[in-house]
Amino acid sequence: MLSDKLKEELNKQLNREIYSAYLYMSMAAYSDANGLPGFSAWFQAQAAEELAHAMKFYNYMSDRGVRVVLEAVPKPTTDYDSPTHVFEETLKHEQYITENINKLYELAVQENDYATQTFLHWFITEQVEEEKSVNQVLDTLRLIGDKGHALVMLDRELGKRGQPAQNA
Ligand SMILES: [Fe+2]
Ligand SMILES: [Fe+2]
Repeated sequence: MLSDKLKEELNKQLNREIYSAYLYMSMAAYSDANGLPGFSAWFQAQAAEELAHAMKFYNYMSDRGVRVVLEAVPKPTTDYDSPTHVFEETLKHEQYITENINKLYELAVQENDYATQTFLHWFITEQVEEEKSVNQVLDTLRLIGDKGHALVMLDRELGKRGQPAQNA
């Protein structure tokens, strides 16, 4: 039996994953509006992954008999200063998610809930991957700056993620 606190925190994380999808969709829209279809494809793929994360929480909660409650999704930022700024905000957001996954894990440990600990292992590993891939793009953006031929090349590179073959 899960404690009320653990149920509540799982539900909050499910809602955070939905917000993540919403935030990345907003970043995709910013990218499209600024002539960066590859960046948009990258963020669209990212948004789809976040919705899949939300569904992992949904199904786990459902399996454990925990009622899912969908909350209002806050409005994400619409405008950014530059592609670098978008990725700086992405990194901050992923670090915030990592922090919350870790807190959730700590709670599952405190409550001796072994199944929730096992469930969260996947997310702990995933967050390492998320921060790593965002950091890689951010490093490149800092090297090339926010314009010119190199940005167009990076846009093409990021666009590959949106292709179905890359997601298989
Ligand atoms: Fe996520
Ligand atoms: Fe993420």
